Amino acid sequence: MPKRILTGDRPTSPLHLGHYVGSLQNRVRLQDEYDTFILIADIQALTDNFERPEMLEANVFEVTLDYLAVGVDPHKAKIVVQSMVPELTELTIYFMNLVTVATLERNPTLKEEIKQRNFTKGIPVGFWSYPISQAADITIFKADLVPVGEDQLPMIEQTREIVRRFNRLYKKILIEPRALLGKVARLPGTDGGAKMSKSVGNCIYLGDSPEQVRQRVMSMFTDPTRIHPTDPGHVEGNPVFTYHDVFNPDKAEVEDLKDRYRKGTVGDVEVKERLVKALTDFLDPIRARRAEFAAKPQLVREIINEGTRQGRALAQQTMDEVRSAMKIKYALD
Ligand code: TRP
Repeated sequence: MPKRILTGDRPTSPLHLGHYVGSLQNRVRLQDEYDTFILIADIQALTDNFERPEMLEANVFEVTLDYLAVGVDPHKAKIVVQSMVPELTELTIYFMNLVTVATLERNPTLKEEIKQRNFTKGIPVGFWSYPISQAADITIFKADLVPVGEDQLPMIEQTREIVRRFNRLYKKILIEPRALLGKVARLPGTDGGAKMSKSVGNCIYLGDSPEQVRQRVMSMFTDPTRIHPTDPGHVEGNPVFTYHDVFNPDKAEVEDLKDRYRKGTVGDVEVKERLVKALTDFLDPIRARRAEFAAKPQLVREIINEGTRQGRALAQQTMDEVRSAMKIKYALD
């Protein structure tokens, strides 16, 4: 039996370079080796967007286009829409018994997200408990491996705890998953902030036009201590160089730019021009594939439907085992 991957994204916006290095790249790299399921987590997205559910529909489509554009192969990887697998909500409810309020309150990613969102009417229970629903996402597919960005590690840890409790209490049927981080666990935002985030507006999207990429790069944050191009500059912690390290395949050029930057013999503009070129070369084929699929919406819908059908079949099988293990499988006829 090949090992299985499950990972996913909230369809709140198209995906950006942070998603690519954190997780998408690993999904594409491993889709031949692993039985791969990719979840479009619209129910999770709803937990802080329930007042504007209509924004999700368009983004389910956009996120699918991003997957296909970066090379997710629908013949190998199954793209599943979360809300079309109702078994997930059932498992979430069962898992709620296995998690304490205190554990949720300690989850650092959740704490951070709650702070960012500034919920004025109080924290919705749905949002606050989404780590439990995410544990259901991962376990219902019996995933071994979860390719994610660094911010998701507390969710995987929470999942592992639930699985251990479930298996001990009822029957050893669930799999304790491992996280797989990208080769860069966290890509900084164009503003130098800790990560790319839609709400901050510091992202370069996979579908951005060359003009948008140029504009984003040219206004990027660099070394705040460097006033003149002749000042010696810092390369470490400078997001422009972080991006060069990740996206510029010409390593000799990157080393030369770093060297001259440290000596104060290259200006920010040249370093950024080279980054624009590297990113454009990287994004051009992605944008082209995105456009090809965008022109065939019916095909995209079929891909989602077929992936979801296969995902749901697997989820139903797991729930059958879960109900047996919990001894709540009654014969009603
Ligand atoms: N919480 C993830 C994010 O914000 C999305 C997600 C939902 C997910 N379900 C998942 C990721 C299951 C990995 C596995 O990006």
